[in-house]
Amino acid sequence: MNDELIFAEEQIPEPGNASPQKPWKILIVDDDEEVHSITKLALRNFTFDSRPLQFLHAYSGQEGIEQLTEHTDIAVCLLDVVMESEHAGLDTARAIRETLNNGFVRIVLRTGQPGQAPEETIIAEYDINDYKEKTELTRGKLHTLLYSCLRSYRDIISLDRSRQGLERILESSTQLHQKTYLKDFAQGILEQISAVLSPEEDAFYAKNNGVAAFEHSGNLRIIAGTGEYSEYENNDAAAVLPEDCRDILDDTSPGFRSKLTSSGFISLYRSNDEHTGLLFMRDLKTRNQLENHLLQMFCRNALTAFENISLRTLLEESQREIVYLLGDAVEHRSKETGFHLRRVSEISYLLAQRSGLSEEQAGFIREAAPLHDLGKIAIPDAILNKPDKLDATEWAVMKTHSEVGYEMLHSSDKPLLKMGAEIALDHHERWDGTGYPAGKAGTEISIAGRITAIADVFDALCSRRVYKPAWDIKQVEEYFQLQRGLHFDPDLVDILFENLDEFIAIQQRFPDPEPQPHD
Ligand code: C2E
Ligand code: SIN
Ligand code: SIN
Ligand code: SIN
Ligand code: FE
Ligand code: FE
Repeated sequence: MNDELIFAEEQIPEPGNASPQKPWKILIVDDDEEVHSITKLALRNFTFDSRPLQFLHAYSGQEGIEQLTEHTDIAVCLLDVVMESEHAGLDTARAIRETLNNGFVRIVLRTGQPGQAPEETIIAEYDINDYKEKTELTRGKLHTLLYSCLRSYRDIISLDRSRQGLERILESSTQLHQKTYLKDFAQGILEQISAVLSPEEDAFYAKNNGVAAFEHSGNLRIIAGTGEYSEYENNDAAAVLPEDCRDILDDTSPGFRSKLTSSGFISLYRSNDEHTGLLFMRDLKTRNQLENHLLQMFCRNALTAFENISLRTLLEESQREIVYLLGDAVEHRSKETGFHLRRVSEISYLLAQRSGLSEEQAGFIREAAPLHDLGKIAIPDAILNKPDKLDATEWAVMKTHSEVGYEMLHSSDKPLLKMGAEIALDHHERWDGTGYPAGKAGTEISIAGRITAIADVFDALCSRRVYKPAWDIKQVEEYFQLQRGLHFDPDLVDILFENLDEFIAIQQRFPDPEPQPHD
């Protein structure tokens, strides 16, 4: 498939330019009125990501809990230790994490009596994020503190939202596949697009004025429209869409493309046999790269399904297909054409079967293995596609892909995504304990992680990468002999060698295309 993604970063409009920015909520919990006023004064005019602060005030631990119950989106809580009791602040911190189950808000303890409680113990035991003495309430120190807290709050929320987005993609796609009528289906897609990005967000951010169109006898007929476009059903999309979508419409080459323009988000898919599907959402905005990727994955997936449905050939095993689509979005970005994910999946499956796992377990590993590198979605292109060795800093960033993938998936209640989380987390651990992120050793590493580690490296070595040529099979065999019991589970390596022909056959069954000369 001749895929093309157009995504001009500089065209992404700042969501704030048109509408007032939503403030970050900061809760001050302190029984001393003066601390409230000094803090407010020191932080006046403070902004982060062009969003101002909004202060909420509580004068006891109990009032603090009430505020946090009412406002679930408080970003930072500045919490006094001694209030209605000697340890009211600590009790409050615990209640926030355990009773309110709020793991997002950044908690900073502030104490007037230095040395009152040992800092490290408190930080670990109460899951708070920082510990300050009230003498540190200067403007400079408060600014630094707020920057670091808001940055980490923003990242945590962003990851959580991405995970929710992934779940909605899985769910909505499954629902979509069950809809047989093209119009219902198209309507469904439009309703889901904004939900993918903004479950509960501000109305200005995702106005739902959208168009879904499908090619029918030569013109792109609007199958469904929402909001202001609902009256345009059956019209030609080309006549209705804004001028800045022209170039996408005019490009007749096959493949998927999408673009964020100042009027909205458009994506279009042309199949090789000249069917075309189109989605347009007016005024749709994304806030960061992760959201761009989610949006693209969703549209690509929806348009593929759209095409399938229109041909009355409903996809079977839709869930598996979608997992491939998700993984594929990463693969696409990392400029690796071809079948890496499929091969890793099949190699993992065979290893799992031969190592005596149940067919059900093996099946799960097969379906979840394509998610092993999902976290690479958060790795900047300059690192992901560097044609050379990574330096120490780049390597540190690259290594985060294990945990990022885990974070995106682990809180899902879907067994397939849970397995994906485990695989994402463990696939770079090593049997001898020298791997990352945790340095687990031996059977501390999940069996799914040990299996996909072998499959991933086996395939990576046999394939060309931007940063290395393909190895020949003899070198690969030597590597696995050498790393038996070091990098890899020795029993699994034995299974690999006992069945080597079958593993090589998988490699050959899904070959990568020859590299293009101008690559
Ligand atoms: P990947 O390309 O999918 O490689 C997966 C794993 O295969 C690697 O995990 C490593 O265990 C193994 N592998 C790949 N190529 C080689 C090789 O030439 N020699 C040896 N001994 N092993 C190899 P690792 O090292 O944790 O890397 C994870 C990911 O980090 C890689 O995924 C790749 O995306 C990136 N990466 C690693 N090194 C470089 C590099 O030098 N340049 C660039 N641009 N990316 C790199
Ligand atoms: C964390 O992410 O919990 C540590 C950093 C911080 O919140 O200040
Ligand atoms: C891409 O996925 O290839 C471009 C989009 C982005 O980097 O956000
Ligand atoms: C991917 O296919 O998920 C990224 C490429 C790789 O694993 O090296
Ligand atoms: Fe990886
Ligand atoms: Fe991989």
